[in-house]
Amino acid sequence: MTDPEPLSVAALSVADTESVSKATEQEINPWDVQAAVDEHGNVKQFDYAAISQKWNTKLIDQAVLERFERVTGHKPHRWLRRGLFFSHRDLDLILDDYERGEDFLLYTGRGPSSDSMHIGHTIPFEFTKWLQDVFDVPLVIMLTDDEKFLFKEKLKQEEVYKFARDNAKDIISIGFDVKKTFIYIDSEFFTSGYNRHFSLNTTEFEKLITNNQVRGAFGFKGETNIGSNAFAAKQCVAAFASSYPFIWSAPHTTYTRSRALASTRCLIPCAIDQDPYFRLVRDNCARMSLPSPKPALLHSKFLTALQGAGGKMSASDPNSAIFMSDTASQVKNKINKHAFSGGQETLELHRELGGDPDIDVPYQYLSYFEDDDEKLAGWAAAYRKGEMLTGEMKKECVTMMTAYVKKFQDGRAKVTDEVLEEFMRPRPLEWRGNPKVERKVKNVVEEEAAGKKADGAAAGAAGEAVGEDGKPLTKNQLKKLLKQQEIEKKKAEKAAAAAAAAA
Ligand code: TRP
Repeated sequence: MTDPEPLSVAALSVADTESVSKATEQEINPWDVQAAVDEHGNVKQFDYAAISQKWNTKLIDQAVLERFERVTGHKPHRWLRRGLFFSHRDLDLILDDYERGEDFLLYTGRGPSSDSMHIGHTIPFEFTKWLQDVFDVPLVIMLTDDEKFLFKEKLKQEEVYKFARDNAKDIISIGFDVKKTFIYIDSEFFTSGYNRHFSLNTTEFEKLITNNQVRGAFGFKGETNIGSNAFAAKQCVAAFASSYPFIWSAPHTTYTRSRALASTRCLIPCAIDQDPYFRLVRDNCARMSLPSPKPALLHSKFLTALQGAGGKMSASDPNSAIFMSDTASQVKNKINKHAFSGGQETLELHRELGGDPDIDVPYQYLSYFEDDDEKLAGWAAAYRKGEMLTGEMKKECVTMMTAYVKKFQDGRAKVTDEVLEEFMRPRPLEWRGNPKVERKVKNVVEEEAAGKKADGAAAGAAGEAVGEDGKPLTKNQLKKLLKQQEIEKKKAEKAAAAAAAAA
């Protein structure tokens, strides 16, 4: 998620003495997120239905949630039930793949623009971890230190790299399973030797995209630096499983990329402002020499800042958010002093008129973290009736948020440099997928053989494991193949190590 600058004073001013209207429309793109402002200069709530309509995404509805529960056997996460993740693209196709026992790649990321993460940053990762637990699939997390360096005038390369390492530790604290998770920092992975297929994908994708396309998607101009123009290709091809052959024990030093991996679908949970990147990959992935399906997306709203609707959590404003490094007394103070309240001015008025939980930040935060729907509805009802007071809502919120931050900090204390290195080591991952069906193991080194046989290639493109004759492999053949892949992988690793030692 982006870290927008704090709201300007002008945007917050209520006085409207000039005759010109101060109204502006909402702006949502990967580098700038601003809520609309009305003619009096008041910041409005984000209009998520409008952005979904404008970008032609699907709103998450009851039907898709019911199917999610049927297919996965898991009750949808409260952030799906309550619409924090409110929109998607092709979630139904991911569920189809899961039902058939096919692998898919889970992919998310973060631009490390500061070393302090707040709850607005952790929530997408909490959600991704839940998806990893539910689907039991491989996950890649991309930390784009290169992106932040290119887009932020003031940041130095060493500095963003350090942010990326700190952020990676924060992300690990959320509880990802190291066996199923590969975390990488761009500047490191792109120089590691394991990135050959990623790089080949990048160059090929760069060739498909014109300056006009990126200008249209991101508003770049002639004076935009060329690194920014090109960066999008990296965030895009990061959604191709063929960029990470080692995860599937496929060779990474060969020139040829894997057709079966290219045909593997990807699911990307992200904030809605990242959608322009992924529209670019969805529009062009079929044009790759080894075509990839369009990645599926799950879009989140922006979390409410402590100051309330339209405000944004910002790393540069300590009072705009609960930071994961806050002490218990800081959490308490921030909520008591800075959280926007939907309660009435006085106790008497509150008892008489009741409060409005929909604009009450402590209640909003409780709705992010309290899993019990009934308990939450109880608080809202009591607040509306004036039975529950602002101070009481804040107290519940302080208890909840203190526990969340403490759990995070306890986890963070265990993330050593060694743990970090293990997550960032390019290696085969282990997962099971849907326990109810047999996993369709991919023949990830099939291309030459399958490519020569028309039907073999077709089966390969569908992601099935096929033999030299183009027929699906038997179980024994598959076992043999996996063993072979393991040996190839070891060989390749040895060769890489030897090459590194010689260099
Ligand atoms: N561009 C994102 C940011 O600035 C980082 C990112 C890279 C990302 N890949 C992603 C975010 C995939 C979500 C999903 O934060």
